[in-house]
This record gives sequence, C-alpha cells and structure tokens, in this order.
Amino acid sequence: MALIIKGGLVFLGEKFEKKEILINDRGIIEKIESGTIRGEEIIDVGGRLVVPGLIDPHVHLREPGQEYKEDFESGSKAAISGGFTAVMDMPNNKPPTTTKERFLEKIKRAESARCDIFFHFGGTDDNFSEVKKTNPESMKLYLGHTTGELMLKNPSSMERHFREFDRKKPIVLHACDDTGDQTRDLDQTHHNIEDAIKLAKQINRRVHIAHVSAREEVTIAKRFEGCTSEVTPHHLFLSKKDEKKLGYFAKVNPPLRAESDRLLLWSKMDVINCIATDHAPHTVEDKEEGAAGFPGLETSLGLMLEGANRGLIDKISIFQKMSRNVASAFNLENRGSIKKGFIGDITIIDPKKEWTVDRTDMYSKCRWTPFDGWKLHGKAETIVRKGELVYHDYEFC
Ligand code: DOR
Ligand code: ZN
Repeated sequence: MALIIKGGLVFLGEKFEKKEILINDRGIIEKIESGTIRGEEIIDVGGRLVVPGLIDPHVHLREPGQEYKEDFESGSKAAISGGFTAVMDMPNNKPPTTTKERFLEKIKRAESARCDIFFHFGGTDDNFSEVKKTNPESMKLYLGHTTGELMLKNPSSMERHFREFDRKKPIVLHACDDTGDQTRDLDQTHHNIEDAIKLAKQINRRVHIAHVSAREEVTIAKRFEGCTSEVTPHHLFLSKKDEKKLGYFAKVNPPLRAESDRLLLWSKMDVINCIATDHAPHTVEDKEEGAAGFPGLETSLGLMLEGANRGLIDKISIFQKMSRNVASAFNLENRGSIKKGFIGDITIIDPKKEWTVDRTDMYSKCRWTPFDGWKLHGKAETIVRKGELVYHDYEFC
C-alpha cells in the first residue's frame, strides 16, 4: 500500500518546506510536492518536522554474546523510539566480529530487528584473510587500550589494513587510550590519530574518527578531506563536572572531559560530520563493577534538539549530521535524504513535545541513563520504515 504524509515541514537537506510525500507500495519515495498529491493512505502530521529516518553510525547492540545487556530486538526498539531507522553495530561482541562466519551470523540474527542494522567488521593483527573473504562495507580498528581483545598490538597492522581494505570504504578508528590518566590518554589519542591521518592521506584511504571528545582531534581530522568524524551527545552535554553526581555511572570511553573541552566541541560542530550515540548499554550491576559506556539511542535526538533550544546548533545541522552526512560517510545508498527514488524511511518529530527522561520507561535493557530526570523538548512521534507505519503516536504499531 502506498503512503502519503501531508501537513508537515519536510527537511530537504538545506531547508524545511511545507510538502507532501508519496511513498509507493515498494517503499520508495516517489513524489515530494505541494498540494497536488491525492490518494487514500494519508497521514496528516500537521506542524510536525518530517525528516529522513535518522541513522546512527555507532552502536553496541551486544548480540550475540551479551544479550543480558541488549539484543537486536530491544536495541532496535530503542533505536526506532529514538527516531532512528538504521544503526551501525560495532564488532566488539563476545566473541568479536572478526571472521566471515561471525559476520554472517550477525546479519542473519538481525533480519527480524525493528530497524535496519549494518555491521562494522573488526580488524585485528591476524585476520587479513577474513577481511578479504568477507569484503564488508566498513571496518573498525581499535588503536588505543580500551576494549581488550580487539586492540591492535602490532604497530604494522593498521598500515596493512589501511592498504589492503578497499580504500573507498571507511575504516572507523577508535583512537582513545583508557589508561585512567587523562593527560596521558589525550596525548596518546592525538598521537594515534595524527599517525593514522598522516597515513590515510598519503595513501588516499577513507577513515572515520569515532567519538571525538577534544578539540585537537577535530583539528587533526580536518587535515585530510577523506576523513570524517562523529561526536556523541554525552560528550556535548556532560563533563568531568558531572562525575561526582553520576559516580560509577560516569565511566565511559573516551572519558568525560573538562568543561572547557565540552564547550570547545560545540564550537567545532561545523567541521564534525556526524552525531553518533555510541549506545553502549551495560546493566547497573556491570556499571557497579566498572563497565564503561552509556546508552544513548533514546535520548540523542531530544538532547540535540535541546542544543538547538539553547542556541548551540541549528536544526538543519542536526538533521544533516544525523542522516545525510552519515549516509555519505558510510556509502549508504539511497538513504539519509528525502528525495525521489530514496528508501521511504521517515521520522516525524513533534519539536514541542515536552518529556522527561525516565530510566524506568525505556526500551533498552540497561534500565539507567546518565540523563535520567532531564527535561527535554522534542521527540520522535511517528516512524515510517520503507513506507510502512511501524511506530505511531509514541507507540509501536
Ligand atoms: O564506553 C565505551 N563502551 N567505549 C567503548 O569504546 C566501548 C563501549 C562498550 O562496548 O561498552
Ligand atoms: Zn563504541
């Protein structure tokens, strides 16, 4: 059945305009017009923002291996209710996604998820032939001491992956070094990124810097136009100042930085390409025992709109960084824009909806969030996935 969305302010990449959208029965956007589309299956979204389904380039949905923290069903419900129609899952599972067999298993398991899930393949010191056999669309390399099993130990492995993996496909770099010593960590992070960017530029290979958390990282990333970057809402809204209140919940990689770094990140938003949640759910018990990571899928959009309310960013930039720019950084075809011929994934947002983040009322399994109790404005109200209404009036259909 075809679907017509009318009455909304439609995001067209550089501006919002009052338009109607027709998505055909194959789930493809067929028309974007003003006042001329007729048909039966109409939803009237009067006054709402109509944007491309949001895409998150960085999540940890924990399946397979740690389904007690999250799985594709709970994680994809968190994604949809947060406004995302596609997410990109990281390879640091237990066991890690570093072989063709494990990669294909993940794809199969995710088939019934509520949103589309793409997978970053993990590169290690000795899986070059697996990368070649699998030929994934993106890879992740861990350059710093943080996630145990996946960190590269041999200094020549990064260069070999950089040279052997298709250079038009992005390699995501996790550069931070979780030593517990903030100064050393930052020095090491800059050093890792500096080396990586230099080489990427020299051999002209695409790279993407995960979760930039300090201004220098952004500056280094910009030395090469084939390099894209992402920032998380938690590094934009939280800093060391919040650590006392959050206690063991404050632990995350990269760590929360100084308040001055947080403010400087906002001032660099014009050169940071993407917003990524780094949704990394852990149970309360695991946090008590020192696990690093925050959930983020259900709070990210509300927080970014809060940034707009505070005058720190404009809405056009938010939606570019949460859809179009992610699709372009990761070569996701026919996604990330409301355009004729593109996939009919649409997020409809009530920008005035007042709501309070409530850790007991979330789809993620982890049951806590560093933003518990925050009052936000703006929430995804309706989600259309490939032309089908999957979430409406804040409820799954
Ligand atoms: O805080 C983090 N948590 N940073 C990471 O790099 C990994 C993630 C996780 O998987 O829990
Ligand atoms: Zn991560």
